[in-house]
Amino acid sequence: MSDFAARLAKTESVLEQIANEFSPAVFASSLAAEDMVLTDLILRKQLNIGIFSLETGRLHAETLAMLERIKAHYGSEITLFKPDPAAVENYVARHGLNAFYDSVEMRKECCRIRKVEPLNLALANKKAWITGQRRAQSSTRAELAMQEDDAAHAMQKFNPLTDWSEDDVWHYIRSNNVPYNALHDNGYPSIGCEPCTRAIQPSEDVRAGRWWWENPESKECGLHVVDGKLIRLKQI
Ligand code: ADX
Ligand code: SF4
Repeated sequence: MSDFAARLAKTESVLEQIANEFSPAVFASSLAAEDMVLTDLILRKQLNIGIFSLETGRLHAETLAMLERIKAHYGSEITLFKPDPAAVENYVARHGLNAFYDSVEMRKECCRIRKVEPLNLALANKKAWITGQRRAQSSTRAELAMQEDDAAHAMQKFNPLTDWSEDDVWHYIRSNNVPYNALHDNGYPSIGCEPCTRAIQPSEDVRAGRWWWENPESKECGLHVVDGKLIRLKQI
């Protein structure tokens, strides 16, 4: 078995284990490449895992278009979680629509309202959640395990692609004809909200286009940080 085949087999078996032993489990999809790999594995095998996306209100048109493309390709809909309109209105009225450029605090507050609070709603009453994070994506993810104890949400958190490379992701997408976000062909290896993501040059780090005006250490949106540190429990 090639190294890639072994990584794929492990990912498949972890997903099956989550569906069987951690129900109700949900997968958080940003609709970017890694998440389309997991979407394909979950939907084609009809695993008992719900899929949701945090629709922040600031996503690219190309990202939103993925919702229809997924429906057309798999016949399944992604559940959307949106921010509280009153909280968004209050932030915009007090600080301005794009205040996230002003300071890390203002940026984290916007992410809290548009991503973290909706995530908490999406995870309510669930036993486990799944992400498409990979170790190779950034220094903050260098020690990411396949399974983590997410104490903040009181549930298990799984990263079934943690040991995949970017090449693995694209190999899977191309060999299985998986639909993917058109921005990936235009210099966007990593995709978040539209005003907070730019295209990168080939020589740049894959996450260089995310919150590009900040230092690398602050570049997490709060979805994956607990008490300022990534948590790690066991490797499965
Ligand atoms: S992050 O900094 O925005 O969290 P990244 O875009 O690398 O980083 O996403 C990592 C993982 O977080 C994704 O694989 C997905 O599981 C989850 N995630 C990020 N953005 C969203 C979103 N808008 N909706 C649902 N899940 C998301
Ligand atoms: Fe707001 Fe930017 Fe965070 Fe999106 S990524 S929630 S626009 S600060």
